[in-house]
Amino acid sequence: MRILFAASEIYPLIKTGGLADVAGALPVALRAKGHDVKLIMPAYKGILEKVEAIHKKTNLGNPFGVGDLILLETRIIENDTPIYLLQCQALFERDAGPYLDQDGTDYVDNHLRFGAFSWAIAMLAQHGHLIGWQADILHLNDWQTGFAAAYLKSWKLNHIPIISTVHNLRYNGSFEMNRFPDMRLSSELLDMHGMEFYGRFSGLKAGLVYADAITTVSPTYAKEIVTSEYGDGLDGTLRAMRYKLHGILNGVDYEQWSPEKDQLISQAYSIDSIEKKCANKLALLNENKLPEDPSTLLFGIVSRLTEQKGLDLVLEAIPALLQKGCRLIVLGSGDKALESAYLALQQQYPNQVSIKIGYDEAYSHRLQAGVDALLIPSRFEPCGLTQLYALKYGTLPLVRKTGGLADSVFETGEQANGFVFEQANAQALKEAMLRTLACFEDINAWREKQSNAMAYDFSWEGTTVKWEQLYSSLLN
Ligand code: ADP
Ligand code: GLC
Repeated sequence: MRILFAASEIYPLIKTGGLADVAGALPVALRAKGHDVKLIMPAYKGILEKVEAIHKKTNLGNPFGVGDLILLETRIIENDTPIYLLQCQALFERDAGPYLDQDGTDYVDNHLRFGAFSWAIAMLAQHGHLIGWQADILHLNDWQTGFAAAYLKSWKLNHIPIISTVHNLRYNGSFEMNRFPDMRLSSELLDMHGMEFYGRFSGLKAGLVYADAITTVSPTYAKEIVTSEYGDGLDGTLRAMRYKLHGILNGVDYEQWSPEKDQLISQAYSIDSIEKKCANKLALLNENKLPEDPSTLLFGIVSRLTEQKGLDLVLEAIPALLQKGCRLIVLGSGDKALESAYLALQQQYPNQVSIKIGYDEAYSHRLQAGVDALLIPSRFEPCGLTQLYALKYGTLPLVRKTGGLADSVFETGEQANGFVFEQANAQALKEAMLRTLACFEDINAWREKQSNAMAYDFSWEGTTVKWEQLYSSLLN
C-alpha cells in the first residue's frame, strides 16, 4: 500500500512529545513490512541539516498570500524514510518550537501555519501527479493535519480514504471565527456537523468528521473519549462517529528504547542481568550530586509539565515519602507555576530531590535507566509512552488507571508490572507510592515485577498488523 503519513513533529527531526515518537516509528515499521510510506512535515528552522540533500523541489504556489509553498523531497538520514518537507519561510522558519514562541505562547498565526500545511497535504493526496507518486491512503495525525480533510471535502472531488489519529483530544486546534477567511475554505463546512466547534472552527474536529476512519492511541482512551468526562467537548461528535472509531495501542521502538541497545546509558543490562541496572542508578545519583546510596527508593519523572499529567498531585504526596528517605529526580518543562513549584521542592530537600527544567533527550534515557520507579499520575493519558519505555528498563511505572496507562500497567495478577491508583487525588497517589515503597523493601517481590515488566513486548511489529487491517478495510 502507498500511504501518505502526515504529522507536525517526527523523531529524530523534531519532538515535543509522544506524537513525534509515533510518527518516527510507525511509518518505519510499515515500510519494513513492504509498504510504500512517505512522510510529510513542515520544514521548521534547522530541519534541513538533519536530512539528506534535497532530491527534488516542487513549487505548490502561493495560495495563502504569505509566500510560495515549496515541497522538498528528501529522506531521513537515520532510517532512510522518504519525507516531504513543506518550506515557507514566513510560516515555518522560527526560532522557538513548532507551536509556541519563546514565552510559551501559541503563535498567533497557527491556524494559517497548519492550514497551509494541511492544504499541501491535501494537494499531495489529491494530485499525486505533481510529485509523481499517488498515495492510496492518507493518514492524518492530530489537529495540525486535520484541516487537510476539510480541504479535500471542500474540493468536492473523489479522494483517497482518510484516517485521522487522535493523539490528544485536549489540543483541538480551534480558532476564532474571524480567522476563518484566512483558511480559503468554504463556509459550507461551518455547521455543527462539520468543523464548527462552539462558535469557533477546529482542525481536530475537521479531521474527525471528514475522515473515513478515526483511531486513537489506546483501547481505553477510545472508550473514554465518548464520555463527557474525557470528551473535551467532542464526546457528542465522537459518539456519533463510534462506527468508525478504533483504539490501537502505540508501540515502542526498541532500537531506541531498550537497556540492551541504548547507547545513551552508562551500563547496558537485560532481563537476565537486572542487577546491572544499579550502575545506572549510581551514575544518575552522581550526576545529580545526590548521595550514592542504592538502597533507598528513587522515584523519577520525565514529562511535559501540564495539567494533563497530574504532577501537581506529586507535589502534595511526596513529602511523606521523602520523610521515609525516598528520593525524586525530575526532567520536565511546560507550565511555569509547576516548574517553580518543583524547583522550590528541590530547594527544600536538596539531598533528596533533583529537578532539571528543560528538554533533554539523552538525559531522559539516563533517567529511565537509573530510577527505580517512574511516576505517571495523569488525569488523562491517550496512550503514554514513558510507561512503556520504563517497563523495558525494569523501572516500575506508578500510574493512574486511565487511557493507555490502564492498558499497559497492572498492579496485581500474574503479569503485575507496576503500581496503579484510580482516584485523581494526592491521597490515592500517596497510598500507591507507599505500596511501591513496601514492594521495594521486599527484594523478591520487586524483582518479580521487574522481570514481568521487562518481558512485555510492545514492539511496533505486532501493532502494524492492526494498521494493515484497518488500511485494507478502507481500500476494499
Ligand atoms: P506526551 O506525548 O503526552 O507528552 P508520551 O508519554 O506519549 O506523552 O510521550 C512523551 C515523550 O516525550 C517521551 O518520549 C518522553 O521521553 C519525552 N519527553 C517528555 N518530556 C521530556 C523532556 N523534558 N525531555 C526529554 N524528553 C521528554
Ligand atoms: C499524546 C498523548 C500521549 C500519547 C502520544 C502519542 O501526546 O498525550 O498519551 O502517548 O500523544 O500518541
